Amino acid sequence: MVDLLLGLQWGDEGKGKIVDVLTKDYDIIARFQGGPNAGHTLEFDGIKHVLHTIPSGIFHKNAINVVGNGVVIDPVIFKKELDNLDKFNIDIISKLLISRKAHLILPTHRLLDAASEASKGKAKIGSTLKGIGPTYMDKTGRNGMRVGDLEFENWKDKYRALADKHEELLGFHNVDIEYDLDELETEFFEGIATLKKLTFIDSEQYIFDAMASNKKILAEGAQGSLLDIDFGTYPFVTSSNTTAAGACTGLGVAPGKIGKVLGIFKAYTTRVGSGPFPTELFDEDGETMGRVGNEFGATTGRPRRCGWLDLVALKYAVQINGVTELMMMKADVLSGFDTIKVCTAYNYKGEQIQHLPYNIEEDNVNPVYTEMKGWAKDLTKMTSADELPEALQNYIIYLEKELNVPIKIVSVGPDRTQTIFR
Ligand code: GDP
Ligand code: IMO
Ligand code: MG
Repeated sequence: MVDLLLGLQWGDEGKGKIVDVLTKDYDIIARFQGGPNAGHTLEFDGIKHVLHTIPSGIFHKNAINVVGNGVVIDPVIFKKELDNLDKFNIDIISKLLISRKAHLILPTHRLLDAASEASKGKAKIGSTLKGIGPTYMDKTGRNGMRVGDLEFENWKDKYRALADKHEELLGFHNVDIEYDLDELETEFFEGIATLKKLTFIDSEQYIFDAMASNKKILAEGAQGSLLDIDFGTYPFVTSSNTTAAGACTGLGVAPGKIGKVLGIFKAYTTRVGSGPFPTELFDEDGETMGRVGNEFGATTGRPRRCGWLDLVALKYAVQINGVTELMMMKADVLSGFDTIKVCTAYNYKGEQIQHLPYNIEEDNVNPVYTEMKGWAKDLTKMTSADELPEALQNYIIYLEKELNVPIKIVSVGPDRTQTIFR
C-alpha cells in the first residue's frame, strides 16, 4: 500500500516538515507531481533545509527517495539542491532514484513562463517562474523531453529542436524578455551532466516491486488541493493534479493500493501568488500571522497572503482527497489572538452557500465567520496533547467534528521535535 501526504490549502502547509518526521516509519518516500515550484522546508539540529525536487525523506538513512514520473525536473535547480546536500554525506546514487518518465524543464520553458506571465499583465497567475506551466503543456502536447531520453545519444538533437521551437513561440508573446541562451544552456548542460550521474529507474515497476515485498511507501505531494489544475481556483492554479488522484498517475499506483491519506493544513490560511482568497486579511491580524508565522515563500521569497481558516475550502479538499487523517500545522502562530475566526460559509450573490462556487473571484465571495476563544500560551515547548491550552483543544475538537476526520498531529514549531501526536 502507498500512503499519501497532501497539502489541503494553497500550498506551504508544512509538508516537508511532516514527511521528514514520518520518514522513520517508511522505506520509500516518493514525489509524484510538481517540480521546483515547490519549496519544502525541514528543520532539525538547528539547521533549516529547503528542498524543491528531492523528496523530504532524504536525510534519513532508512529510506529510498524516488522522484516519480509525474514530476518535472529542472536540472539546473536539481544540481543546486544536490550541491547543498554535499556536506551531509548522503549516498545519493543508492538513496535517490529518478523516474525515466519524469519530464525535463528546459531553460526556454522558464522563458516561456516569464513571457506568458508578462503578457497577462494584471491577470498574471503569479507563477513561481520555474517553467512549470510550459513544461506540463509540452508533456500533454506530447512534445516533452524526458529523463529517459538522456540515455540516448541523440538527446541533444531533441533538445535543440524543442528549444528552437520555444524560441519561435517566445516571439508570439508581445513582450520583451531579455535572455542569453548560451549562458542558460551552459548551466543547463552542467545540470544534465550531474543528473546523468544519478540512478534512473522505471519508477512504476520499482513501486510495484516494493509493494509486492510489503515495503512501506509514502507519496509526498507538492503544492495544495486549491492549486490543483482541475479542482483548484482555476486559472490561478498550478499545472498538475495536486490531489490524491495525482499520486496514482504520478507514480503508477492503482487506486485500490492507496492506504492512508494524510491531509495537512495550517491552523489559518496562506496563499502566495494571485487568485481568490476569501478569508484573506488586510489588517493587523493578517500582518501578525505573516510576521509570527514567517510567511515568505520558500521558493520565491515573496510574502504570503494570510487569513483565517476557511472551513468551506478545507471540507472540499478533505472530500476530493478522501482524507483519513489530518495534521494541523503552525498552531503556535495563533497564540496571542483573543479570538480565532473560522469561515463556515460564504455570502455569494445574496445567498449563503457552503461550497466553492464555479466563478469564485477576488471579491464576489464574503466569508461568514464563527468565532472561538483564543489562547495566549506559548506552545512551542509543549510535547504532549494534554499540555495544549483548553481553547486550542476546543478548536481542534470543533474542526474534527466539522471535517469528520481525526487530527492526529498538531505542529507547534518548525523543528522536527516540535510535533505533538494525538
Ligand atoms: P511545504 O511547502 O508544505 O513543505 O511548506 P513550506 O516549507 O513552504 O512552508 C512551511 C513553513 O512553516 C516553513 O518555513 C516551515 O519551517 C514552517 N513550519 C512548519 N511547521 C510549523 C509549525 O508548526 N510552526 C511554525 N511556527 N512554523 C512551522
Ligand atoms: P509547495 O509544494 C505555494 C503557486 C504559485 C502560483 C501558482 C502557479 O511548496 O507547497 P506555478 O509556478 O506552479 O506555475 O505557479 O501556484 N505555487 C505554490 N504556492 N506552495 C507551492 O508549493 C507552490 N507551487 C506553486 O505561487 O500562485
Ligand atoms: Mg512550500
